[in-house]
Amino acid sequence: MAIKLNYKNAGIREKELDYIRPLAEAACRQLTERTGAGSEMLGWHDLPDTYDREEFARIKEAAKRICQQSEVLVAIGIGGSYLGARAGLEFIKGPFGNQLGQKDSVEVYFAGSNISSDYIQNILDIIGDRDFSVNVISKSGTTTEPAVAFRIFKEKLEQKYGKEGAKSRIYATTDAHKGALRGLAEKEGYETFVVPDNIGGRFSCLSAVGLLPMAAGGMDIDQVMKGCADAMEAYRNPDFMSNDAMLYAALRFLMLMKGKSVEILASYEPSLTMFGEWYKQLMAESEGKENKGLFPVSANFTTDLHSIGQFIQDGTRIMFETVLWVQNARQELKVPHDPANVDGLNFASGISMQEMNEKAMKGTLLAHVDGGVPNLIISIDRLNDYTFGQLVYFFWKSLAVSGYMIGVNPFDQPGVEAYKKNMFALLGKPGFEEAKGALEERLKALAD
Ligand code: PA5
Repeated sequence: MAIKLNYKNAGIREKELDYIRPLAEAACRQLTERTGAGSEMLGWHDLPDTYDREEFARIKEAAKRICQQSEVLVAIGIGGSYLGARAGLEFIKGPFGNQLGQKDSVEVYFAGSNISSDYIQNILDIIGDRDFSVNVISKSGTTTEPAVAFRIFKEKLEQKYGKEGAKSRIYATTDAHKGALRGLAEKEGYETFVVPDNIGGRFSCLSAVGLLPMAAGGMDIDQVMKGCADAMEAYRNPDFMSNDAMLYAALRFLMLMKGKSVEILASYEPSLTMFGEWYKQLMAESEGKENKGLFPVSANFTTDLHSIGQFIQDGTRIMFETVLWVQNARQELKVPHDPANVDGLNFASGISMQEMNEKAMKGTLLAHVDGGVPNLIISIDRLNDYTFGQLVYFFWKSLAVSGYMIGVNPFDQPGVEAYKKNMFALLGKPGFEEAKGALEERLKALAD
């Protein structure tokens, strides 16, 4: 495995692990025997064995076609329908991936994950006169944010290419049989891909949901699936002490028992910023229910050491840190020598930036441990398609085990509906009229 877990700085004793072991193993059995809550949503668990090979080939073909017909792909989706693909593309290409250009790939911009007019206008400005295609990703087809964005980009496509031309540039990833988008796609004749019934949004990035934008953006999705398959095999291991996915779940549970309520996923690579966003959704939507769970936060160091670093070092002791460490940089740059040495940095001239980053990581780890913040380290060899696939599976499996350990259904998300009901009532959506008056009264009282 490219992934290694180190918990020497977590302040956890072997006997605490022994104590928690039966619970972790029982949770793991619930998963493999499909006896836990939400077990009908375990399609991700053996995905590398069961995924639809015919559809996978079509995804690669569609990605090729998108690259031939367009310079830009607008991927429209929210939550589980966009975070994984964006995390993958930035993992591989970095935060400036779209500007770097790459043979046989398009620029990929993500829309439909907010209701900001300015954000969509920015994407339209970036596209300008260039050719573009759209991948609309929504299981239901009625989620407000992507539905609004799709209306706008569909209209632009139709203005630019005509109704017929637009159809050949729209790719819909949606429910196999039902839902508003399925109906529209079939009526209009868009090429379609499937959001599997037995895979929830936050576990869907290695289905067509994430794979099409990833492939169009230049990722090697064969390698992604190989990494995922190898991780699936490795974490089938029933031996607690040599199964890092199970161990990580148990360590998180012990942190919760010791009174920690926040987990910070800290990385030292800006390429992992969106991976942190993906992790937050996975953890928060899966565990944060029935007044339980760790609150997941992500941070990018050393950047954030100059902002939230103060709190981590000295503030309320509510958190532990999980450092996602990348051992090798893609490109080795060194600190140049400067004869004037006005910044006093010549002691480090000739050192690689990766080495400096590692010293920063180690120095921070010691400082945070001294400040009462336990540290776990998940290290990976390097950022590539294969390690992305491995990491995704590692977090899926671990989170599912820890969800069962704390006694929740890790595969539903009932709390996500609350804001939608209020928003629909305030907007006057049919069926939500009853709540409108009372909500407006409350808002008025707050404004006064
Ligand atoms: O994890 C989830 O289930 C959610 O984040 C969904 O993916 C998100 O709400 C999008 O839903 P839909 O695909 O129906 O538009």
